[in-house]
Amino acid sequence: MEIKKIGVIGAGLMGAGIAQVAAQSGFEVTLMDVETRFLDKGISTIEKNLKRMVEKGKLDAAQADAIRARIKGTLSIVDVANGADVTIEAVIEKMDLKKKVYKELDQLAQGSTIFATNTSGLSITEMAAITARPEKFIGMHFFNPVPVMKLVEVIRGIATSDETVAVIKDLSVKLGKTPIEVQEAPGFVVNRILVPMIIEAIFVLQEGLATAAEIDEGMKLGANHPMGPLALADLVGLDTLLNVQQHLYEEFGDPKYRPPVLLKKMVRAGRLGRKSGKGFYDYGS
Ligand code: 3HC
Repeated sequence: MEIKKIGVIGAGLMGAGIAQVAAQSGFEVTLMDVETRFLDKGISTIEKNLKRMVEKGKLDAAQADAIRARIKGTLSIVDVANGADVTIEAVIEKMDLKKKVYKELDQLAQGSTIFATNTSGLSITEMAAITARPEKFIGMHFFNPVPVMKLVEVIRGIATSDETVAVIKDLSVKLGKTPIEVQEAPGFVVNRILVPMIIEAIFVLQEGLATAAEIDEGMKLGANHPMGPLALADLVGLDTLLNVQQHLYEEFGDPKYRPPVLLKKMVRAGRLGRKSGKGFYDYGS
């Protein structure tokens, strides 16, 4: 199956990154969000990244323009479905919302379209069951920042076909990523390991053992992490982190996954990390 056109649903942190990488790899991309301000923010992030690449000499201006021209923004799911060989959904981590999107998308997309979800850990099987194409439904989990991070977790739901897995692994390679194949389970592989580590850092902060900067310095210098866990929390988004951890807690029923009160409080206050300008650190406006 030859993929030419990719629909990306959700122009947030992940969706915009996925759209950028797909356009950079030569695919035609339709990027959708539900409100103009979200779509504009996603597109302006892509434009900034492309500009930075031109400044660094990684692209020339004509290449950057061609990449930008391959991305069409829309507010309509009809446009995303139209002619897409694959759709990649990156809407917020709420199962009800994702199911609503898929119910609609399934009616609109051609029968051959593969549905890939960038969920951080929700059940692929549950989303697939809403559609009439569970064999063409798969997890395609990118990592933040998408243009930089090399991994894609390719996750099989209960009904995902071998052909769908092969197409999506091949697509991941064409996007310049390295896929690992994962069976569906809460948090998949990476978040199952990474998120509880970040959460533990929040407990350490909550208990007053050290400051945020010291905790991060500790893990950078003592464990060779490229950035500290609290800075990483701010990068991922504290709302996303809380959603992932809450999901692990609910699914496994194990108290080791309980979310810290401090994290809940910060999310309730709208301190979501880099994207809101404030999290464990201050990012200005
Ligand atoms: N978008 C695009 N490019 C970016 C970027 C962004 N948001 N942030 C950094 N970059 C690029 C820079 O332009 C630079 O490019 P160059 O090498 O071509 O010059 C390169 O990345 C390195 O950036 P910097 O020199 O500014 O900074 P660092 O060397 O400190 O790298 C980092 C920044 C790549 C973010 C690094 O600190 C890192 O790898 N951190 C860990 C990230 C991580 O663990 N992500 C996984 C999160 S979990 C997740 O996403 C799963 C989800 O489901 C929760």
